[in-house]
Amino acid sequence: MEKSKILIIGVTGSLGYHLAEASLKFCHPTFALVRHSAFSHPIKAQKLHSLSQGGATLLTGSMEDETALAEAVRLVDVVICAVSAQQCLHQKLLIRVIKQLGSVKRFIPSEFGSDPTRAHVSELDDLYNFYAPKVEIRGLVEAEGIPYTVISCNFFMKILLPSLAQPGLDAPPRDKVTVYGNGNTKGFFAGVFMKESDVAAFTISTVDDPRTLNKVLYLRPPENVCSLNELVEMWEIKIGKKLERLHVSEGELLQKIKGTSYPANYELLFIYSAFINGDHTYFDIEPPSGVNGTQLYPHVKYTTISEFLDTLV
Ligand SMILES: *[C@@H]1O[C@H](CO)[C@@H](O)[C@H](O)[C@H]1NC(C)=O
Repeated sequence: MEKSKILIIGVTGSLGYHLAEASLKFCHPTFALVRHSAFSHPIKAQKLHSLSQGGATLLTGSMEDETALAEAVRLVDVVICAVSAQQCLHQKLLIRVIKQLGSVKRFIPSEFGSDPTRAHVSELDDLYNFYAPKVEIRGLVEAEGIPYTVISCNFFMKILLPSLAQPGLDAPPRDKVTVYGNGNTKGFFAGVFMKESDVAAFTISTVDDPRTLNKVLYLRPPENVCSLNELVEMWEIKIGKKLERLHVSEGELLQKIKGTSYPANYELLFIYSAFINGDHTYFDIEPPSGVNGTQLYPHVKYTTISEFLDTLV
C-alpha cells in the first residue's frame, strides 16, 4: 500500500519535530509548514536543516495564512497539528481549510495530552483555560465531518517526571519528597507518562489505519502508569535510600494552585488532575470511540517509567 503524504504543523516544537522524524522513518512523504522567521532562529533552523536533509519538504507559511495553509493541505492526505496548547484555537482556520478542500483523509488535531473531555478540573479550568479549547476543537472537527484521530497520550515524560512531581526542582529529590493527597491506590489516582518520541511513533502508526478512523487513541501502557507513592518507591529502590515524606492535602494543593504563578501552577494543576482526581485512569478504554494504542501496535517499543528514572539516577 502506498504511504500517505503527511503535513505536520509545528515541527520546530519538540513533539512536532519528533512527529516529522517518525513520519520520515516510516517512509511517509513528509511536509512541514514553517514560519518564515523560523529559518533565522538558530535552534529552529538547525532542526529544519536536519529534517530537510532527512527528506522532508519545507513549505513556508503560518497558521494565520489561509492561502499558504490551502496550498500545503492540497499536497497531502494527512494533516497533523502539533502547536502548543496556548495556540490551540488557532486551528480553527486550518479546520476550515481542510473542510473546504475536502481531500484530507485524516486530521490529527493538536491534543496530545490527557483527555480534556475526562478532566474534572472545571473550576480551575475557568482560571487557566487549558482543557476547554481542546474540547472545542474536538467538537468542531466532529461537527465538520472531517475524518480524524485524536491522540490521548497523557503526560510527556519531560513534564513532572524529571522532578518526581516536585514543581520547582529540576532533578528528583534525594532527601525529602512532597506527596500530594494520599498518594495512593494503584491504577486509579495515577499519572500516565509517555516519551514524546514514542508518542510520535504511535501517532504515525495510526494515519493509514482504518481502526483508528474517528477514534481517540489512548496511550496507557501498564508500565507507564504510576501513583505518587509508587513513583517515590520506585525512585527509593533505584537510589537505595528512603526519603522523608511531606504530605500536602487536596485542599492545601488547591489553595497552592491559586496562589502560584506560571509555570509551576500548571504543574500543580496536572498533579491535581492526575494524582488526586485520577483523570488519566478512572475510565476504561472502550468502544465505540476509544482504542488502545499498545494493543493495536504491539510492535511499537516505548520507554517505561522505570527506564526513564534509570537515566536520572
Ligand atoms: C491496552 O492493551 C494492552 C495490551 O493488550 C493491555 O496490557 C492494557 O491493559 C490495555 N489497557 C487498557 C487500559 O485497557
